[in-house]
This record gives sequence, C-alpha cells and structure tokens, in this order.
Amino acid sequence: MTKATTPKRRKLVPLTDDPVRHILWRGDRLDVLDQRLLPRRVHYVACRTAAEVAQATKDMVLRGAPLIGCAAAYGMALAARGGRLKGVLAAEPVLRRARPTAVNLMHALDHMLAVAKSGPEETLSARMAAAAVKYYRDDLAYNETMARLGASLLKRGSRVITHCNAGALATAGIGTAVGMIRAAHLDGKIERVYPCETRPYLQGARLTLWELMEAGIPATLITDNMAAHLMKTERIDAVIVGSDRIAANADVCNKIGTYGLAILAKHHGVPFFVVAPSTTVDLDTATGADIPIEERSAAEVVEFFGVPIAPKGAEARHFAFDVTPHELVTAIVTERGVVRPPNAASLKKVLSNTK
Ligand code: MRU
Repeated sequence: MTKATTPKRRKLVPLTDDPVRHILWRGDRLDVLDQRLLPRRVHYVACRTAAEVAQATKDMVLRGAPLIGCAAAYGMALAARGGRLKGVLAAEPVLRRARPTAVNLMHALDHMLAVAKSGPEETLSARMAAAAVKYYRDDLAYNETMARLGASLLKRGSRVITHCNAGALATAGIGTAVGMIRAAHLDGKIERVYPCETRPYLQGARLTLWELMEAGIPATLITDNMAAHLMKTERIDAVIVGSDRIAANADVCNKIGTYGLAILAKHHGVPFFVVAPSTTVDLDTATGADIPIEERSAAEVVEFFGVPIAPKGAEARHFAFDVTPHELVTAIVTERGVVRPPNAASLKKVLSNTK
C-alpha cells in the first residue's frame, strides 16, 4: 500500500496567524483570489462592481458559505460608492441570485440592506464600507470561538475525516471544520486528517489539503469513495464538516457527499460534527427538504477541469449539495455554543445565546 503523507514541518501555526488573503478590500474594488486555480497558481480577479462580485461567486472564483456572504457584503459596499440608495437596491437581487444554497449570502444581503436604509445618502458609501469590513471581522471572530469550542469535543490522538473545504479559504478566518481541526491540533489532539477529494471541484484535494499542509497538520488525501473502507478497516474518531445552510429543525446542508459520510459515520459508530456560524442557520426554512439545492452544469462532471472524461454526448447530473438529517449529526458547533443533540429546540436555545 502506498501512502501519500504530508512532509514534516517544524512550526505549528497559531490560531492568531493571519488567514489566507483570499479577498482583499481596496476601498474602490474587491480583489478576489481565484480559488479555481489553486494550488497551482495564485491569481487575483479585480471586482469593481456588485455585478462582478456576483459573477465571481457564480463562477466559483470564490466559494465557501461564509466567504460568499462576506464578498456579497463588499459587493453591496461597491454598489453604495455612488452614494445612491437606488444603486444598492438594484445591486441586491443581482448578488442574491449568484448562488442559491448558502444562506450566508442572503444573511449578508439582508444585513447590508438594513444598513443602507438606516441613514442618509450623504453617509451611504462610508457606512456600507464600514459595515462590510465589520461583517468580515465578525466572521473571523466566530471562526476562532467555534474552533476552541469544537476542539474541546475531540479526544487526544484523533484521526478525523473532513469533506470539501471548510477552511480559511471558505471563511474570513481560520475556517469552520478546519478551524476546529487546527485548534485541536494545537491542543495535541489530532493524529491525522483525511480530507476527501470532493468531486467534481476537488475542494478537498486542492484547498483543504493545501491548508492542512501549510498548518503542519498530518494529512492524507482520500478519494470520496474510500471513506467507507477507511472507517471499516482503520480507526476513525470523528467526521468534521462545515455547512451551507442549517434548517430550523437542525437538518444540515453541505457539499454533495456529506450525507453519505454521515450515514457511514452512523453505521460505524463515529461521531459526526458540523461546525458553522449562526449566519449559516436559516430559521425561516423549516426542514432540510425545503433548502434549495444548487444544480450546476453537467459539463463540470463529464469534464475534469476542461478535459473530457466521459463519452462525447454523455448526460450527467451535478448536484452541488445534499442534506444530512439532524438525527445523523452528533453536534453542531456554533459561535454561540454547541447544539447537542441537534434538533429544533436545542438549535433555537443555543442561538438565543447572544454573547
Ligand atoms: O461549492 P462550495 O465550494 O462553495 O461549497 C462549500 C462547502 O460546501 C463548504 O463545506 C461549506 O460552505 C462550509 S464552509 C465553511
């Protein structure tokens, strides 16, 4: 058996280190690191309008639920630069249509709309820019709180599976699921992380593995279809994932493949943790069945980053997300506390903690 392992690194990366510079607010534009090219190439796309931020979001230049929300907040700040409320009102639906599943987008837009309407047009531009920066900084702080809360749930020597990228590249800070892993690693609790590669965009292979290696965390890549075998034949102590939307009954929507992992975890008696800020919770959506699931182009399945892998003319489906019923989730870690076991009442109770 050949094992691909991370090279040994001397330095542990502390939680307070600067996160990856994936979106850079320049006052008159938002520079967005093109995540489609990572880890091979570092290239920034300059977004000067809300429409350009929306397009970058749609095209997956940036991705990850909390980061999508932060970018939208900056998009609204760009729309406010003209000093007219009308401009902000016109930009809002354009941004809202960018992607349908991650509710952080809707949360950020609702928040920024309220800020826009809260004062005169004379101060609109400055008010919106300040609000967008604050929205970003709040998410960064949530990451750190969740990381510490989540790390306390793991035992020493844990071997964990994660899926997609719920790390620094998906948030303003150190990430949600990866943030918990990073904090646990600093506490000496992580023996090894197994990121699933995450077809078809390979967020696990390209982004999560890269982040883990940068942080000096032992990590071994697996393809999505290896998780069951790994749980059956070797010790796995937890599955840790992020989320794009959590319904009022605590059902969890996340990257396609998460539901399967949760079923596997239940079957093998492995705890299944979800790490997500309160901005990912959607109390207006009753259950997971009501969450809109993004379907992307079939071309992204029959081609591998532009290279055809299926017969010419092949049909395919591309579901970007799935829903895990709350019964399969051991705990949801939010910045307001740990929801355990997750259900409508426990979720509501933890969300009511405001500090
Ligand atoms: O399609 P993506 O890459 O935007 O999907 C991202 C995910 O599914 C993440 O797991 C989720 O947003 C949690 S991010 C902290």
